[in-house]
Amino acid sequence: MDIKGSRAVVTGGASGIGLAMVEELLARGARVVVADIDGDRARRVAEQQPGASGARCDVSVHAEVEALCDHAYRELGGVDLVFANAGVNLSGPLLKATPQELDWVFGVNVRGIWSTLSIFANRMIEAGHPGRICVTASEHALGLQHLGAGLYTASKQAVLGLADVFAAELPPSVGLSVFCPGLVATELHLSRRHSPFPPADPADLAFSAAILARGMPASEAARAAIDGVMRGDPLIVSHSTSVTAARKRAEQVEAAFAAQAPWTDHGERYNVNNVIAAVMSENEARKA
Ligand SMILES: NC(=O)c1ccc[n+]([C@@H]2O[C@H](COP(=O)([O-])OP(=O)(O)OC[C@H]3O[C@@H](n4cnc5c(N)ncnc54)[C@H](O)[C@@H]3O)[C@@H](O)[C@H]2O)c1
Repeated sequence: MDIKGSRAVVTGGASGIGLAMVEELLARGARVVVADIDGDRARRVAEQQPGASGARCDVSVHAEVEALCDHAYRELGGVDLVFANAGVNLSGPLLKATPQELDWVFGVNVRGIWSTLSIFANRMIEAGHPGRICVTASEHALGLQHLGAGLYTASKQAVLGLADVFAAELPPSVGLSVFCPGLVATELHLSRRHSPFPPADPADLAFSAAILARGMPASEAARAAIDGVMRGDPLIVSHSTSVTAARKRAEQVEAAFAAQAPWTDHGERYNVNNVIAAVMSENEARKA
């Protein structure tokens, strides 16, 4: 697939990494629907960029993602590339989080990704044309965690789980990549502005803003994502430091197995995929 002349949708496209994805896609000759919960900002972004159009969409509302998909197919005549990128963070210790906060973070970061992936992938399959979808997770999906981001970390690990299963279910015509960037200079600290919760404490906000400001430029992160999608990489990473957390998790898993469940000759007996295959073939044989 060539980006030049392709038709793309970017959720969370009015700011940060999503905005940089929009700019990079347009620079490479794509037409882009910029979707964001902040519809005015999405439309303002699009007005300044030939080849772009703006649309309001709250990805945590399934019907709004369906409407976005209909709009994009009408507007562009089809969709080749989808960047399911919208996401939010809510700072605070997991021990003090409320059910409402969990529902909101998971509503955007997990349900929003599921809706976008499911709706656009099904439409691509129905329309019978190839496409590629990239979901923005985070280095948090690979095992990294940091102070005050518990709900965020858990939601991003859920995104990796969703992507694993979708990748197994999707036909070869629909490619799927998971983008796992580290720190990027964006407005992620302002996530609360679209939440039902009161504004953050100004000192906490200034702390988060100072940290994010030291991140990788969003343009660099967006280029890594788009290059990875075009290469067909299932996992796209951009920050070399993320590997430390991923390795630590892998070593922890290896050590647990070595100590508690070392490999034995009959280990495959309980391999659930082998068991499913065996039961299916026994059922088939009974029917024959
Ligand atoms: N900034 C980082 O350090 C970093 C690192 C790893 C991953 N990420 C991920 O990158 C993605 C983009 O975040 P960003 O850092 O560019 O932040 P950002 O706040 O600058 O941009 C996010 C955009 O998503 C929009 N948005 C929020 N809720 C939405 C919803 N319900 N529906 C549609 N749009 C919504 C916001 O209005 C905003 O325009 C997120 O998924 C985030 O988790 C960010």
